[in-house]
Amino acid sequence: KNNVPTTIVVFGASGDLAKKKTFPALFHLFSQGLLPKRVSIVGYARTQMSSEEFHKRATSYFSPDASKDSVKEFLKICTYVSGKYDVDADFKALRSAIDDHERAENIDTDSERIHVYYMALPPSVFVDVAAQIKRNVYDDTCTNRLIIEKPFGHDLESSRKLSKDISALFDEAEVFRIDHYLGKEMVKNILSLRFANVFYEAVWNRHYISNIQITFKEPFGTEGRGGYFDEFGIIRDVMQNHLIQVLCIVAMNQPQSLSAEDVRDRKTEVLSRILPLQLEDTMLGQYVGTKDGSKPGYKDDKTVPKDSITPTFAQCVLHVDNDRWRGVPWVIKAGKALDEAKMLIRIQFKDMPNALFPKLARNELVIQVSPKEAVYIKTIVKEPGLSTSLAMSELDLTYKTRYHDVKIPDAYATLILDVLNGDHSNFVRSDELDEAWRIFTPLLHQIETEHVKPLPYEYGSKGPEGVYQFVENRTGYKRTGLQYHWEAPQ
Ligand code: BG6
Repeated sequence: KNNVPTTIVVFGASGDLAKKKTFPALFHLFSQGLLPKRVSIVGYARTQMSSEEFHKRATSYFSPDASKDSVKEFLKICTYVSGKYDVDADFKALRSAIDDHERAENIDTDSERIHVYYMALPPSVFVDVAAQIKRNVYDDTCTNRLIIEKPFGHDLESSRKLSKDISALFDEAEVFRIDHYLGKEMVKNILSLRFANVFYEAVWNRHYISNIQITFKEPFGTEGRGGYFDEFGIIRDVMQNHLIQVLCIVAMNQPQSLSAEDVRDRKTEVLSRILPLQLEDTMLGQYVGTKDGSKPGYKDDKTVPKDSITPTFAQCVLHVDNDRWRGVPWVIKAGKALDEAKMLIRIQFKDMPNALFPKLARNELVIQVSPKEAVYIKTIVKEPGLSTSLAMSELDLTYKTRYHDVKIPDAYATLILDVLNGDHSNFVRSDELDEAWRIFTPLLHQIETEHVKPLPYEYGSKGPEGVYQFVENRTGYKRTGLQYHWEAPQ
């Protein structure tokens, strides 16, 4: 833990992201004693209110089980400044508030200090606010760090423009682009699994792996977020960032070291070998209401245009064109309003080249990111007992049963801690972002110019008709069979 005096400014402090993620994560770090000893948090937003009023509001951001005393202590380090996003005087007032606070706390401005600017803001004001910070708040006698959240543009061109505008104001070393999937325990675990165990790396290639699927499913629709979502769609919302980042970590070669730049070099290298997505390798869907009317369709949301063709489901086959992966299909699938909440990586191995036991089901390594963190390897064993038949079983590392007392930290909390420590490993570098957009942009433009209509699927279903055949036909994925079903151990 570093103990450099630190000020964290949260822009958009009364918005949804700040409420759901940023403040709860800061509070979590505070209550675990993980924030620097001399830290102050300043909320900034347009809503006019005093710090006391902000404290009242912020109390509702934390879980009702949070200790009242900790919340009280936490709020003591939080103040609020209201201001517009394009008015110099308002940002100057923010700077004065920071200076006054440092003076009041007797913080020596000649020694090391960190100022973090967390932009929990809509993309339309990113550049304006970054420019305001640079002009009126940035303090060149201390370390300055800027946190930004997606969407980083909506295609390659707009993302490049955004990167260019930001880089005119802040050095790449000062910028932390959050992709919160990089803060998830099981995603962070992939590097350790792969490069700390001799047997994974040995089979981690096209000679042994048949296909890989990375799946994101949510059991709820876009209720309440329809306006935002309709502009972006599932490919931009989840695939171009979260899923492609996960793919990258599964596919990358071993970095020279665990330093941020070595890791990000390897990720960028593998991204640059992914061929742009093709429409014929893509299945798009949009959910409709349930037959009994209990759940609404995507277009029933008042903020969604009645003729919207924005996909809420997509499934795409990708190829990584390098020696390790040539010929191995990767499927990324993401959908809202599906049958369950699940994020997992399924690596299916090739058939066993052996005549002793013909027609075996395939081994699979499954990394379940959520809801129940687990790694299991579907493994064939002799059916226990007098039988000589084979049965599918698993080597199972379910975190809940293996690690009783460990509380898995929230992704945002670990990432904010990384920012405080100046560690960029789990943040997206601008060249990585560029490569990620390169993969998706031609497809996104084609969908838009040709008005490609998504297939309907019912709220709560597994996706559009033919969702599994699509994968089987294009990847050779073989289902294990209905008799096998993995259940997290109790
Ligand atoms: C966000 C997307 O980035 O990630 C949301 O905008 C999605 O649409 C969310 O629901 C999923 O995150 P998590 O951590 O709940 O899996």
